[in-house]
Amino acid sequence: MATDVHGAVTPTPSEDHSAAVRVSGLSRTFDGRRVIDGLELTVRPGEFVALLGRSGCGKSTLLKILAGLDRDIQGTALVPRRKATAFQAPRLMPWKRVWRNVLLGLPGKPERALAERALAEVGLDHRVDAWPKTLSGGEAQRASLARALVREPDLLLLDEPFGALDALTRIKAQRLVGELWQRRGCAVLLVTHDVEEAVLLADRVLVMDDGVIAHETRIDLPRPRDISDPGFGELRAQLLDRLGVEAPTATPVPAA
Ligand SMILES: Nc1ncnc2c1ncn2[C@@H]1O[C@H](COP(=O)(O)OP(=O)(O)O)[C@@H](O)[C@H]1O
Ligand SMILES: [Mg+2]
Repeated sequence: MATDVHGAVTPTPSEDHSAAVRVSGLSRTFDGRRVIDGLELTVRPGEFVALLGRSGCGKSTLLKILAGLDRDIQGTALVPRRKATAFQAPRLMPWKRVWRNVLLGLPGKPERALAERALAEVGLDHRVDAWPKTLSGGEAQRASLARALVREPDLLLLDEPFGALDALTRIKAQRLVGELWQRRGCAVLLVTHDVEEAVLLADRVLVMDDGVIAHETRIDLPRPRDISDPGFGELRAQLLDRLGVEAPTATPVPAA
């Protein structure tokens, strides 16, 4: 199923149960500039992978390729046929009620009950008939997650889905994604700029740089994770260091 030079993104052959994502020699060029340059990546079925990297390093480009939204590539990108994406902006159609937004783009004539179940799973059962403009930022992002879930994805692609949320809503949304992942058992590739979020949720954290996966850290901390755990702090500091950000040090309080 794989194609090389100017290859299309193709579904993983159904007999391949060893990987949810298999990317090899992937390159993407914009105006003669190689943003992705021979990238290699494998994601196991059911694995939660977080992808970090400085702004503009090509994270969203990679996600769009895996989502099948950008086919102008070189190399191979194998992904499951059932995949779903949620972006930072929830992208709800303002003229459709929430439940219709959740079903948007599904083949056939899906039942309202399908949307209701997905909305209940993200804690939005009371907003089924609401118009998108009446939702809070957190609610809109939950609706966007419900829209991903009705697709029953084997691979969930999330591009900074909590980026626009306030701190408290963000913590709740992170918890929700962690729970959904554990319940559904799908592979997740989460793009984030938040090192703490990556260590909180992922089995493995990748750092993208110079068009490739330049670094990876396995996170073996038990779940649910505690950010005050010393092991957590150590991993966070290592990753910040890898990203070229100095970890904050405690500022001594001047004696009175
Ligand atoms: N459609 C496009 N046309 C031209 N350049 C693009 C396009 N999409 C992305 N780029 C460029 O590719 C680089 C990587 O972008 P992006 O993948 O969005 O970065 P990230 O998500 O890591 O912040 C940026 O320099 C961006 O300007
Ligand atoms: Mg991006």
